[in-house]
Amino acid sequence: MRPLTIIGNWKMNGSLSSNQALLAEMLSLGGSLFKRSDAKTQFGLCVPYPYLSQAQGLLKDSRIALGAQDVSDHPYGAYTGDVSAQMLGEFGCRYVIVGHSERRQYHHEGDGVVARKARAALQAGLVPIICVGETEEEHDDGKTLAVVRRQLQAVLDLLQGQIAGCLIAYEPVWAIGTGKVPTPTEAQDVHRELRLQLAKFDDEAASKVAILYGGSLKPDNARELLAMPDIDGGLVGGASLSAEEFVALCQENQ
Ligand code: PGA
Repeated sequence: MRPLTIIGNWKMNGSLSSNQALLAEMLSLGGSLFKRSDAKTQFGLCVPYPYLSQAQGLLKDSRIALGAQDVSDHPYGAYTGDVSAQMLGEFGCRYVIVGHSERRQYHHEGDGVVARKARAALQAGLVPIICVGETEEEHDDGKTLAVVRRQLQAVLDLLQGQIAGCLIAYEPVWAIGTGKVPTPTEAQDVHRELRLQLAKFDDEAASKVAILYGGSLKPDNARELLAMPDIDGGLVGGASLSAEEFVALCQENQ
């Protein structure tokens, strides 16, 4: 079976007490899945900054790696409110999401800054999860492939050979938090395009880089999506706030 990567994104949710309960329930439901060193699937959870230390402690004996949801494109300095990749590393982060559509939409992050954030993450030894995806309007206008190609190209141009150290997440904006999902074939077509674009650039990286699907991924639609040849896992929002749903997703393909 193909190895998968399942990464949760809590977004701006949680509290010290609810996180403690949620992580305890996940670890207990997942049992040996999150302990076995031979398990093929990679797991991760991207939590809000203030909870990194708490989650680092609670996940320390598990195979669920820690991640953050954004990072500065600068290494340090007068950037009030920003957090550097090196700081995330100090709290045990392995992953950081960059270019999530909510950052692109509400914080006006363009392709250039997303690429620079990915570079900053790599320089600090983190694995950036680079999100691409079209809006509903772009989807309806048949622009999906043009949009995701443009978003990925900006990253390829800046990172060059370093792309092999990244994850890509295809997240159609119209599917995020809406309960709407593309058909497995529709999603596969986009993933395949992204893979071909990677291959044109760097054949070896194309075979290595995991391309995750995100957008209303739930236990009841995951099997068919994750069975597609170019879908290598999931970036999971809402379902990562439920221990039962997140663990069920993590158990796919085991
Ligand atoms: P969702 O979010 O699973 O709640 O749709 C996915 C994401 O935004 O990463």
